[in-house]
Amino acid sequence: MTVERFAVIAIDGGAGTGKTTSAARVAERLGFCYVDSGAIYRTVAWALHQAGVSGIDDPGFSDRLASLDLEIRPAPDRFRIFLGGREATANIRTPEVSALSSKIAVRPDVRDRVTALLRQAGGSGPLVVEGRDIGTVVFPDARLKVFLTAELPVRAERRHGDLARQGIDQPRDQVLRELDERDRRDSSRDAAPLRQAPDAVLIDTGRTTIEEQVEAIVHAWLERSAQV
Ligand code: DC
Repeated sequence: MTVERFAVIAIDGGAGTGKTTSAARVAERLGFCYVDSGAIYRTVAWALHQAGVSGIDDPGFSDRLASLDLEIRPAPDRFRIFLGGREATANIRTPEVSALSSKIAVRPDVRDRVTALLRQAGGSGPLVVEGRDIGTVVFPDARLKVFLTAELPVRAERRHGDLARQGIDQPRDQVLRELDERDRRDSSRDAAPLRQAPDAVLIDTGRTTIEEQVEAIVHAWLERSAQV
């Protein structure tokens, strides 16, 4: 079953592999719209937490989830996320929300909700979508699939820098521990685990510069497009 009407580049990988930077730059280079699926999971986690949902076994979980007024809207460069008509803010980027988003992402009802939004976005024009299950589940027929990887210390250092730029000062060993925990959870869950699609191009972002990653993805895209 082909779910996308327009071209999709799926970029998956674990936390701190540099997906956001690469995906946004590739989208800019190709004039595609960029979608950060992790930010949607983060917004859901943040909203449920605000609504008093205490955990994934909370009896009110599915009702609260169903009542969330969640939308993604295209802007020229990227899809923006809205909750109750207001755009999601930087408060979805805290370490607490990182952990919460990975926890709620194990639930199939949460995944179905986010997947439906992403597929709807796929009907609006060419996309670069980053996440964990984009090439395996959300857009299994994406014309190009990329899987980013890097050693844990490299990813932790990168995330430590991201947090510092946001004014969040977390010890390096805590960043590394939380990143590792999140990746284990994201990779071992039953529903749409983090996994490299068999036909994905693998890039180790610990051994390549951002420019090289972007070049490699754009090059792979042009090659695939020439074959169609
Ligand atoms: O990409 P990110 O670190 O912002 O994602 C936050 C969490 O959301 C991640 O730990 C797991 C979940 N997620 C997911 O399950 N599937 C996706 N496609 C994207 C994110």
